[in-house]
Amino acid sequence: MPQGFNTRSIHVGQTSEPTTGAVVPPIYLSSTFQQEVPGTPLNGFEYSRCDNPTRTSLQENLASLEGGLLAYSFASGMAAEDAFFRAVLKPGDHIVLGNDAYGGSYRAIEQVYGPWGVTNSCIDFTDLTSVEEVIKSTKPRVVRIETPTNPLMTIVDIEGVSTIAHKHGALVLVDNTFATPALQRPIELGADVVLHSTTKYLGGHSDVVGGAIVLSDAGLAEKVAQIQNWLGAISSPFDAYLTMRGIKTLGVRMERHSSNALALAERFENHKAVERVLYPGLASHPGHDIAKRQMSLFGGMMSMQLVGGVKAAESLLTNTKLFTLAPSLGGVESLIEHPGLMTHHSVEGTALEVPANLVRISVGIEDIDDLIEDLAQALDSLL
Ligand SMILES: Cc1ncc(COP(=O)(O)O)c(C=O)c1O
Repeated sequence: MPQGFNTRSIHVGQTSEPTTGAVVPPIYLSSTFQQEVPGTPLNGFEYSRCDNPTRTSLQENLASLEGGLLAYSFASGMAAEDAFFRAVLKPGDHIVLGNDAYGGSYRAIEQVYGPWGVTNSCIDFTDLTSVEEVIKSTKPRVVRIETPTNPLMTIVDIEGVSTIAHKHGALVLVDNTFATPALQRPIELGADVVLHSTTKYLGGHSDVVGGAIVLSDAGLAEKVAQIQNWLGAISSPFDAYLTMRGIKTLGVRMERHSSNALALAERFENHKAVERVLYPGLASHPGHDIAKRQMSLFGGMMSMQLVGGVKAAESLLTNTKLFTLAPSLGGVESLIEHPGLMTHHSVEGTALEVPANLVRISVGIEDIDDLIEDLAQALDSLL
């Protein structure tokens, strides 16, 4: 019988170290590996840019959790995405991405690959008829989905878009950073590739930056492996260890992140200072039914638009005591930020510009009563 998600998150790639019996495998810091016969690596390891046992453990684990064939881990989410695009794109190719994709990804697609002759279209993925029209007319090499999106929490039908993309010969990449494989597994829904900023929920403790690509096709995986090996934007052994340490509790953390976020969303949806709460677990969310179908829970990320505009947003960010004002997300502690001024500043003036009255909250796993009390006093102070 195949093992369950939590069992695999703890055990895959994590066999005890045979010499000492250490239950937690050591961090292999060595940059190089001894050979007895020239050109014949012992146990396959030769030089740590190409392969390192600690990185291999993490990669095996990630492939298993996402239901993929192979995974590759990198120094950041952006390094992972860049490795995938370098592996599959050539001048003249086209990328279709969401019109509220993560701003850093849009910046790379527009400003790095644009001058190399790779064009892009930013579209609304929630309207499948127009998705098909754009894909049919632009013939993209890659369709890049994010769901839920950062920071507008839009839900994209992974299965629906993948079917359309495949009909027209495109590869589908899903950025699964917000949901994680604990809640949503894009490869099982038809996607070809999964992208992670492991900096977020997989690491889970705001103490390591990393990224990963998981693939279901051996030929495509080989191309990503070459880019990882040849260009070297790898995760260090220590970063791979920290990420693996975080993953062991991913399942239980995501349950708590999700229940805390749902409680906050329900509690403050009708607060007088709040124009709109964006959380896919709310029945009022336009993507709620699709989210219910493709996610097991709704995750720990939520956004809010405030009645009082940017001024209210700025006050809220400085009035909370437990929610720390900081970019990033997915750690055990609750964070709050203003996408327009912080994480998504780079897309100001583009089609991806975010509303000025928007705040994004990464709901942590603290006690829910404490989170409610803090957000209530901060929102009340805006009235
Ligand atoms: C959804 C999403 N994808 C990718 C990235 C890029 O990841 P990293 O910051 O690890 O390079 C981020 C970073 O915030 C993100 O939120």
